Amino acid sequence: MKFFIDTGNLTQIKEANDLGILDGVTTNPSLMAQVGVKGEEAIAAHYKAICELVEGDISAEVLSTDFATMVEEGKKLAAIHKNIVVKVPMIKDGIKAIKWFTDNGIRTNCTLVFSAGQAILAAKAGATYVSPFIGRIDDSSWDGMELIGQIRHIYDVQGFQTQILAASIRNALHIVKAAEAGADVCTCPLDSILGLLKHPLTDIGLAKFLEDAKKM
Ligand code: G3P
Repeated sequence: MKFFIDTGNLTQIKEANDLGILDGVTTNPSLMAQVGVKGEEAIAAHYKAICELVEGDISAEVLSTDFATMVEEGKKLAAIHKNIVVKVPMIKDGIKAIKWFTDNGIRTNCTLVFSAGQAILAAKAGATYVSPFIGRIDDSSWDGMELIGQIRHIYDVQGFQTQILAASIRNALHIVKAAEAGADVCTCPLDSILGLLKHPLTDIGLAKFLEDAKKM
């Protein structure tokens, strides 16, 4: 399973990248707004900075919702760097746009996916990635991880090549469960990635080893 970080924060991206296990970055308008990036030029410069930090796929989301504008926006985003993947919302015009991007050699990430039916449409349109939002499904008292398993099964049975990108990850257990359910990629906040490191027995064991090392 590939590890992406889900943020627009360059410091956090660098910290995750320095671990040596980062395969890419996802952003969305909320995450970009959080880091204070405003205006077309600043947005493009920020994506370029991310692409220069991390060698891997970088999702950059379109801000429009009609086919023609999404295509224009996506072309501009894709021109920023070869690793940009155009993130497109799961709406009717979004599916049309994904198909257009697929036919024109631009890779896509279909976002805001909450059902297997939506994931089938994204795959049919040729999306490179499909992003089911695990945490938000959990928030509405459904099991987000069940959706990952269902999409995995459908894609395997049907031979769809679209990669399942588990998104809206909220904790380290989500990452473990996404791996178990067969997600191709997990995009996570830095805290959730670092949460994988934690185990009290590791800390206790290391303290004992360091203590004993003094007697060596
Ligand atoms: O990748 C999508 C993700 O950023 C949404 O996460 O925590 O806002 O549901 P969240």
